[in-house]
Amino acid sequence: MAKAYTERTLSARYPTDLKAWQGLKAHYREEMRTRELDALFARDKQRADRFSLEAADLLLDYSKTHVSARTRQLFAHLARQTSVPAAIEAMFAGERINRTEDRSVLHVALRSTPADKAGDGVDGVSDVGDVLSSIEAYVDAVHAGRVTGSTGKRLTNIVNIGIGGSDLGPVMAARALRPYWQGDMRFHSVSNVDGTQLADIKATLDPATTLFIVCSKTFTTLETMTNAHAARKWVIEQLGEDAVQQHFVAASTNHEAMNDFGIHPDFRFGFWDWVGGRYSLWSAVGLSLALVMGMQSFRRLLDGGRQMDRHFRAAPLDENMPVLMAMIAIWYNNFFGAETQAILPYDNRLERFPAYLQQLQMESNGKSVRVDGKPVKGNTGMVIWGEAGNNAQHSFYQLLHQGTRLIPVDFLLPARSSGADQAQQDLAIANCLAQSEALMDGFDEPGLEPYRVHRGNNPSCTILFDELRPETLGQLIALYEHKVFVEGVVWGINSFDQWGVELGKKLATRIAGAVSDPSSYSGSNRSTRRLLEETKARR
Ligand code: F6P
Repeated sequence: MAKAYTERTLSARYPTDLKAWQGLKAHYREEMRTRELDALFARDKQRADRFSLEAADLLLDYSKTHVSARTRQLFAHLARQTSVPAAIEAMFAGERINRTEDRSVLHVALRSTPADKAGDGVDGVSDVGDVLSSIEAYVDAVHAGRVTGSTGKRLTNIVNIGIGGSDLGPVMAARALRPYWQGDMRFHSVSNVDGTQLADIKATLDPATTLFIVCSKTFTTLETMTNAHAARKWVIEQLGEDAVQQHFVAASTNHEAMNDFGIHPDFRFGFWDWVGGRYSLWSAVGLSLALVMGMQSFRRLLDGGRQMDRHFRAAPLDENMPVLMAMIAIWYNNFFGAETQAILPYDNRLERFPAYLQQLQMESNGKSVRVDGKPVKGNTGMVIWGEAGNNAQHSFYQLLHQGTRLIPVDFLLPARSSGADQAQQDLAIANCLAQSEALMDGFDEPGLEPYRVHRGNNPSCTILFDELRPETLGQLIALYEHKVFVEGVVWGINSFDQWGVELGKKLATRIAGAVSDPSSYSGSNRSTRRLLEETKARR
């Protein structure tokens, strides 16, 4: 395919100059700025139907947002005028849309079938199936006890060592899909550099049944390599040098470094540079998840992602769930001035989903330079945060209801309990619906003390699904991945690089030596110098 999209965006205009953006601005000023959500419902009795949308197993109810038929029309114009359809096809075709790293963006190829033709012809894409098969063979062998630890015991404690995209995905998904864990398989994770997670593992796990998966795209990340070497030391102390090959496997694009670490050639699971860290759960990075829940469930997760991909690629812009969610986010961000967005799942198994989305959205769209090198105009990615269900209600909902800020909310709501008492899930459902209703309708009556007034008119989307199953989770993740992509396309930024994390990493390496010897600090920051001295005195 010709590089139609990437070449055109080099001369892209600011979205703010586009007719659709100007139209939205006028629409906001003249109509929606002061429009109450309940007035939108009063005008249209069918609003709940008309402003809902289904994709795969998900139902998106966005009727409680400040979106009218006119707004939706303008959203579609904006998507068209910012070449969203061309961008979608460019991604699926494997164009090098991650320009600062000169890479294709093909996490979609990890969950596609040949008929989808995702990334056809791009190096590595034709190997996806083979790697999946080798993961499957390994998972089955571990489950069947054909591959064991060095003492012959089955490997049942799976410890994922990684950070960022090499941690958040497996951790979030393993928790979300707890009912799918096989028999005595158990999931654990080590990510932070301070060593406490590994200390807990050493104190509780039997090394003979423990398998470490060193998960790192680059295999150079300080935190992961520090933890991996510390775990390796423990295994050697407990089981001897030869045990390393049976107790360590790896997922990485860096084959040489896996070799240097001593990973057995059969236990090196590769992926490709076109898989971004925060988009890598679908690759060998998902190995720990596949080990605890089995390959069949892992393939169901992939299939869920693919179902959302197909919707994203085929649905018209005004009925396209990721496009619509991106536009609603842009609407509140760039027009209403919202700075943050809350993600509130009403299933405790999704408790790490907000954290997962933080990396996905904030690392992807926390950018202030456009793909053409010019500064953006206006805000890009919002601050994403959240917490599961009623825990959140009893913590920060006060601010949502009566604080001074506009905070659009995404509620994630399963209709059925994932393996617990349905009566309790029914209570969670009631609470979720009550909260979205209270946020929208508010509460006031004559003579009510001001501190009791709920102003209402707070927007929310509700994503409803039957039950948290592997395919539903796959759909949810892919939905947000594509939403983030569309936002980036509209703003003209590259959602797939992360240069902003480099400086801190470099400085940490420089400062590391000065922690025990502050006089060796070579930097010029006086606060750092003083804090190093104080730290030394208190160590
Ligand atoms: O923090 C930046 C980052 O590069 C993330 O994008 C990535 O997910 C994480 O570090 C881990 O990187 P790696 O998988 O190479 O260890």
